[in-house]
Amino acid sequence: MSSGKAIHVLRIGHRLVRDDRSTTHVCLVARAFGAKKIYIFDGDPQVKKTIEDVNKRWGGEFEVGIVDDWRQIIKDWKRRGGIIVHLTMYGLRLDDVIDDVRKSSENILLVVGAEKVPKELYIKSDFNIAVGSQPHSEVAALAVFLDRFFRGEEFKQVYNHTQYRVIPSQKGKHVEKIT
Ligand SMILES: C[S@@+](CC[C@H](N)C(=O)[O-])C[C@H]1O[C@@H](n2cnc3c(N)ncnc32)[C@H](O)[C@@H]1O
Repeated sequence: MSSGKAIHVLRIGHRLVRDDRSTTHVCLVARAFGAKKIYIFDGDPQVKKTIEDVNKRWGGEFEVGIVDDWRQIIKDWKRRGGIIVHLTMYGLRLDDVIDDVRKSSENILLVVGAEKVPKELYIKSDFNIAVGSQPHSEVAALAVFLDRFFRGEEFKQVYNHTQYRVIPSQKGKHVEKIT
């Protein structure tokens, strides 16, 4: 993809509201929409395994890391010169800031929540960005942000070491077995 910078995703949330299905969807969207890696705070190792199975069948090198200290991830990211972009309904309008984010020469750590997000995240973030100012979902916010950021180019990415490839079809499911 043309921008040449890496986007990693950090998903934070609380163990009490753990929702493996939506965490899996956050991972799948991050992978399919051009991010390189996701860090899941307090995540279930089964989610990592599910995504590794997807990589095995459908290719690519998307990585999943389970982390127990999301503040450290943010600290390390900033120390290495990257920027933090936090998606929240309370942030600035996506259309108003996406060009500034794109112009920033640094790699991007894109943070999404599961429910309530600590106030310090708003302060630590270089950009707090809203995908519309209505509450919806981290899965939707992630997809829209990445698609706007990459301008649709993410769907042209090549997935190496794949076992299967979809042949786009008007009707039915056509899948080519590669290996
Ligand atoms: C269930 S929502 C919680 C909504 C939360 N009040 C907020 O700050 O956006 C979980 C996550 O979805 C994302 N999200 C939901 N609505 C959003 C929106 N309109 N714009 C950007 N992100 C959104 C945020 O990352 C949020 O932490």
